[in-house]
Amino acid sequence: MEWATTTLALYGMGGAALATSLMTLRRRLHLSHAKHASLAGHARIARRLAALVPFYEYDEAQFFNSDGAPADIAARRRAGFERLSALYATRFAETIRCSAEAAASISDLQFTDAYRVPFQYSGYARARLPSAAFVQSSDGVTVTDLDGNRFYDLTGSYGVNVLGYDFYKEAIERGAARVRALGPVLGPYHPLIAENVAMLKEISGLDEVSFHMSGTEAVMQAVRLARYHTRRTHLVRFCGAYHGWWGDVQPGIGNPLPAHETYTLRDLSEDSLRVLQTRRDIACVLVNPLQALHPNAGAPSDSALLDSARRAHFDKVAYGNWLKRLRAVCTEQNIVLVFDEVFVGFRLARGGAQEYFDVRADLVTYGKTLGGGLPIGVVCGRCDLMKRFRSDRPADICFARGTFNSHPYVMAAMNEFLRHLHTPQAEGLYRDLDRTWNERAQRLNQRLRAEALPVAVANMSSIWTVCYEQPSRYNWMFQYYLRAEGLALSWVGTGRLIFSLNYTNADFDAVVDRFVAAAKAMEQDGWWWGNPAVANRSIKGAILKEMIAHRLFPERGGNWR
Ligand SMILES: Cc1ncc(COP(=O)(O)O)c(C=O)c1O
Repeated sequence: MEWATTTLALYGMGGAALATSLMTLRRRLHLSHAKHASLAGHARIARRLAALVPFYEYDEAQFFNSDGAPADIAARRRAGFERLSALYATRFAETIRCSAEAAASISDLQFTDAYRVPFQYSGYARARLPSAAFVQSSDGVTVTDLDGNRFYDLTGSYGVNVLGYDFYKEAIERGAARVRALGPVLGPYHPLIAENVAMLKEISGLDEVSFHMSGTEAVMQAVRLARYHTRRTHLVRFCGAYHGWWGDVQPGIGNPLPAHETYTLRDLSEDSLRVLQTRRDIACVLVNPLQALHPNAGAPSDSALLDSARRAHFDKVAYGNWLKRLRAVCTEQNIVLVFDEVFVGFRLARGGAQEYFDVRADLVTYGKTLGGGLPIGVVCGRCDLMKRFRSDRPADICFARGTFNSHPYVMAAMNEFLRHLHTPQAEGLYRDLDRTWNERAQRLNQRLRAEALPVAVANMSSIWTVCYEQPSRYNWMFQYYLRAEGLALSWVGTGRLIFSLNYTNADFDAVVDRFVAAAKAMEQDGWWWGNPAVANRSIKGAILKEMIAHRLFPERGGNWR
């Protein structure tokens, strides 16, 4: 009898263990189905492979014919390149001189310089088309370099510049005047903070606010709060999404350590919803609505533009529906839904992505433009999620500080920004925003098509990306032609153009003319010479082969024999 009971108990325990293992296996399978097939969806593999990529660069001849172009095309490219190089040397002389001098001691400049174009071409291009990283003034939608050249600004200052530089100059000045009596006193607050809090609550539709110094810190705090209140460990981010440079939200290339408590899931995917429905360790889901423009792909940068595979397309309805489904699953599973609106907040609509897509989040992070031109990060959230201590467990707290949080000058510039959002002028600005920018994108595309140029833009409101329509290894050269035409881009080049909303039709027409002129010049110089036998896939294949050869035979300069 006793023996039978023991056997039964063992069978029971075995059965339970088997059931648990099967469930764990099922959850693992769900997780692997929910990973995007690209390397961006596999952070660990991406990091390991990145460590294997060898450095090599093209010599002078290869620089002009790495795609096997015939001699006459290579000669046209060379002539065009030399013309551009001479133009840079004269027109941007002082700006280039200052940049070169500063770069020796500014690590950030060294990094951005090195990664403007694919590394195989970078050394040769950098030596002859050096970076000109200084400007001395801004005015309207333009910036002026140290040589007095005025450029239409398409950098948008990383997205900060929504209302135009002149607005922020005034916001900073007016704000500074209002808090001058207090000065840089930290700890106690200047009274105008109360108005900021009231306006942020109204705009976000959420109960409480916390102030930080950058978007990265706001995201860190949102995730920390979600973990504290759910008592769960993991955050979910979607493939390709940027949420600042903190380790847990940057699990792939760029972070020397693996992020053990991060799941990177496929955007717009049923499989990802199933992971959220079945795992018990997920504290929060982070959404960067900018991904709607290029779901599952990282921020487009010309440093990776070795072919023409870059794609972007924005479908507001489809992405909005996806967010609604995500909202429903998060509510059902008590997962905190965080909208990271550091980039898109106040750019798409006055009420940000929540209003634009008509979906409410539990926590929202803001930054960039909200500081009225000064550094900022903000978290708005439900009061139960924002609380940093437990009334019944006094030692169980969720710590967050930051010396410069709520700096009076930042709060004052923010106040000017938020007050402006409540003016009829700002309301008018947001009313026709998408129509204005969609029409402008269409207008530019029509011009490019009419000239039979293999370039097109895709846009999400005022955030644009340049796509290339015929397979080519040389699209990254376009950034230099655009600069020569007086268009200023950020270091990611043509991957991201950001317009401020004060662009008039006349300003925009000037940008279109210059953009088309740049594309024509690049075309005439032979960079888009098309070999009908070449497809994006074959370019990728050829580059992979080069990398393997350089890895295996570095002493032979990457030659197979
Ligand atoms: C969506 C998003 N989150 C967070 C950040 C990080 O903000 P910051 O650069 O102010 O730290 C950025 C910056 O580009 C961003 O675009």
